[in-house]
Amino acid sequence: MGDPSPLSNPEIIPDPYPVYADLSDREPVHWCAGLDGWALTRYADCAAALKDPRFKAERMTEVLSTKFEGRTLAEDNIYHQFTSNVMMYTDAPKHTALRRSTQSAFTRIAHEHYSKVIEEVAADLVASIPAGTQTLDAVPELAAKLPVNAAVRAFGLPQEDLAYVTPRVDALMTYWSGPQDQPVSLDVLLDNLSELHTYSLELVQGKRGTVVDGTVIARLAAAVGSSPDVSLEQTIHQLVLLLIALFAPTTPGSTSSGMMAFATHPEQIDRYLNDPRAADNATNEVVRFNASNQFTWRVAGETLELEGTTIEKGQNVALFLGAANRDRRMFDRPHVFDLDRPNSNRHLTFGLGPHSCLGRQIASLELKWFFAKLFERYPRISLAGEPVWNQNLEFRSLRSLPLRLS
Ligand code: HEM
Repeated sequence: MGDPSPLSNPEIIPDPYPVYADLSDREPVHWCAGLDGWALTRYADCAAALKDPRFKAERMTEVLSTKFEGRTLAEDNIYHQFTSNVMMYTDAPKHTALRRSTQSAFTRIAHEHYSKVIEEVAADLVASIPAGTQTLDAVPELAAKLPVNAAVRAFGLPQEDLAYVTPRVDALMTYWSGPQDQPVSLDVLLDNLSELHTYSLELVQGKRGTVVDGTVIARLAAAVGSSPDVSLEQTIHQLVLLLIALFAPTTPGSTSSGMMAFATHPEQIDRYLNDPRAADNATNEVVRFNASNQFTWRVAGETLELEGTTIEKGQNVALFLGAANRDRRMFDRPHVFDLDRPNSNRHLTFGLGPHSCLGRQIASLELKWFFAKLFERYPRISLAGEPVWNQNLEFRSLRSLPLRLS
């Protein structure tokens, strides 16, 4: 209530970039009461913080009291059990061991297999658009379906379990609602988290649907017990984390914001179709132009100075990856969508450093193959109506994107 930070104003969500640019010039370390923390908006500060061990990834106790003021949970609560045992919210050396324990599913050979499968997934999705279709809402019809179809065929989630898993992940993702009030109660979130754990254990034990060979889940299940310093419970925690990441709004958010960028920049479709180097750079430029995870969290492990501001030990720090991607100190003409940009690949959309996104290659493959198949069938896309953004600055994505296909 009464938060003077412009970051807490939901009206900025459709276009937060002028606010970011202003903050990065005037107040690059900015207090946002809605986040109960400092917001960093410059590229250099965000990139440095992602690699600096003084900014702790172990942050979920502080985040809990920010999101649900005054709530504390017993140490053995599923919330603490989960968050203190997944790679995303732990620091070295625990983080290193947890991340390494999933490596069998993320090798070069595994990714070559996923690439083939995801190419088929993208081709089938685009082919499923009925002949003669001139307009559609590209969020429910395309962007939302891409990661779900990939989840079944490349990740190995049994098709028959989708209806169980996706509503639970949707509920859990509301935990990350930016500076706005929490839409779902903590007790409901905890129930959903427990249920996903029970589900994941049963899946690995073969008590749920059949997991297809060669997929991420099959590789993880085959590796259970092979890391001496990682327990079965911890492997289940990583699997739950992956399920959440898999169905998070990040991949659909990038797919739909990418379609919107192309639809409003037809000359970039020409560049895509006429120059393989421009096409190769498309995924990087799409995710630079709009980061679907606009910011991530850290906690200051010690009191430190940044850009002339003191950040006290224990305070929250929100690293605005979406702002960093539009920082003119790093990207020339940052608000121009340009496949010929020489440094699009320096975006921070997938993070950087030890916690950089484990699913980065898979998400990039989904985007790469999706746009290849889309433009193969429809060399022109344009807006057929007003796009509608969601109300969540943290996981900012389109709700609706009316598109004309030709
Ligand atoms: C466009 C889609 C995606 C975006 C924008 C995205 C973004 C990110 C970001 C920003 C981080 C770093 C968070 C931090 O440092 O605090 C991250 C980490 C992570 N992502 Fe993604 N992600 C995407 C897709 C995926 C997918 C499909 C998976 C599933 C395999 C995944 C799994 C993970 C995991 C496990 C981590 C934690 C890595 C660690 O802490 O070591 N992500 N992601």
